[in-house]
Amino acid sequence: MVDVNKVLQPWQIVDRFRDNTNCRIVATSTETVPRVAPVVRCEVAAKAMSVESRGMDRAFVLLPESSPAHSLLLHFLSSLLLSLSLPMTKKVGDISMAARAVAIPPALLLLLFSLASPAAANLSTGYYQKTCPKAEQIISDVVTGKQISTPTTAAGSLRLFFHDCFVGGCDASMLISTNAFNRAERDADDNISLPGDAFDTVIRAKTALELQCPGVVSCADVLALATRDLVLMLGGPFYTVRLGRKDALASTAASVPGNLPSPNMTVDQLIDVFAKKKMTVQDMVALSGAHTVGFSHCNQFASRVFNYDGSGGHDPTMNSEYAAALQQACANYEKDSTIAAFNDLMTPGKFDNLYYQNVLRGLGLLASDSALAADKRTRPLVELYAANQTAFFNDFTKAMEKLSLVGVKTGRKGEVRRRCDEFNSLST
Ligand code: HEM
Repeated sequence: MVDVNKVLQPWQIVDRFRDNTNCRIVATSTETVPRVAPVVRCEVAAKAMSVESRGMDRAFVLLPESSPAHSLLLHFLSSLLLSLSLPMTKKVGDISMAARAVAIPPALLLLLFSLASPAAANLSTGYYQKTCPKAEQIISDVVTGKQISTPTTAAGSLRLFFHDCFVGGCDASMLISTNAFNRAERDADDNISLPGDAFDTVIRAKTALELQCPGVVSCADVLALATRDLVLMLGGPFYTVRLGRKDALASTAASVPGNLPSPNMTVDQLIDVFAKKKMTVQDMVALSGAHTVGFSHCNQFASRVFNYDGSGGHDPTMNSEYAAALQQACANYEKDSTIAAFNDLMTPGKFDNLYYQNVLRGLGLLASDSALAADKRTRPLVELYAANQTAFFNDFTKAMEKLSLVGVKTGRKGEVRRRCDEFNSLST
């Protein structure tokens, strides 16, 4: 759990300046608060924000400066829940909550499912209607509580879901723990930074489900539904999740390399990684909008801000003030691997289209984010989504529905695990 009092220790703002948007890019220092990662963010209301990291558990809280702990926490959480954006940026094409549930024609859905895999055609929205009618409500309740107590849960779960689906399909193989005989997917290098709170969310929801209807709801379905609910909680679009996935019977770290994108890939390589999962360039750019929330550790973008290509400076495609603030925030990253920066420095906790506006202004954090703004195949989509949040939400919705069907297993190709971190049988 988060020690709120610890978070409320004073911290220093070590650098402030105005960029060409209408906010100051601010790096906050960690000096006075042990194990608090510096963050770089856009600041309007003369209030700094900080992020606390606690290793695997990564209990994080975002709190404005110098107010009573409980009221600040409540203020932040209610802001999050009500999906209010920080008032520093011009919102282009914003839409109301009511308009976020995007209706997709059934024929298009069927096409998407059959493209994803034949097993996807066996999935349905009413899959647990008779066997566990309260499943969706139980998951939603658990997930809501978890996100309120630990606001970094949503971004972590979204990334966990993406990684699970891209390695062997959406089958909860990423949830299996390593044991003496097997090094599981989650312990592959690419997955080491997946946050413990994302795993914990699924485990809590599964535990609640097992009390109500034991052995019925798969961990893969729990993760898919939890992710959808969490995206919605951050202000993102609602999308349909078809159910009936079975859980994987295998999970090995060796199966991970080659399946996940990495920040230093070229756009050709990124397109290729997504194409292998039958995801188009449009799907890739829309899904990358997930970087409107969450954060990245300094080691993921250090090569852009420190001595870029041996130049001694930063990547010239980056906004200079942003790069300088990141240099400051990450100065100690080799000694402290927990230091991280928000992916979207404008509205880090809100699922919106600011990510695209950022990358067009040189405020993309990862090299792969900025690359999307430079390549002629992806830039038109970045521009579209930056200008029109409805277009982003529509395409993100379609892409998430497609992603959640990648490599799904049905029938005897999988099982419904009793525990999400273990196969039912030791011999599996
Ligand atoms: C286009 C290629 C992509 C690359 C190269 C990439 C790479 C990364 C990296 C390096 C991080 C930082 C991890 C860390 O330091 O802890 C990250 C974070 C994140 N990624 Fe991606 N990603 C990509 C696409 C996606 C997609 C398709 C999604 C989801 C649909 C996604 C969701 C996220 C989220 C939500 C975070 C923040 C996680 C957190 O706060 O715990 N990413 N990504």
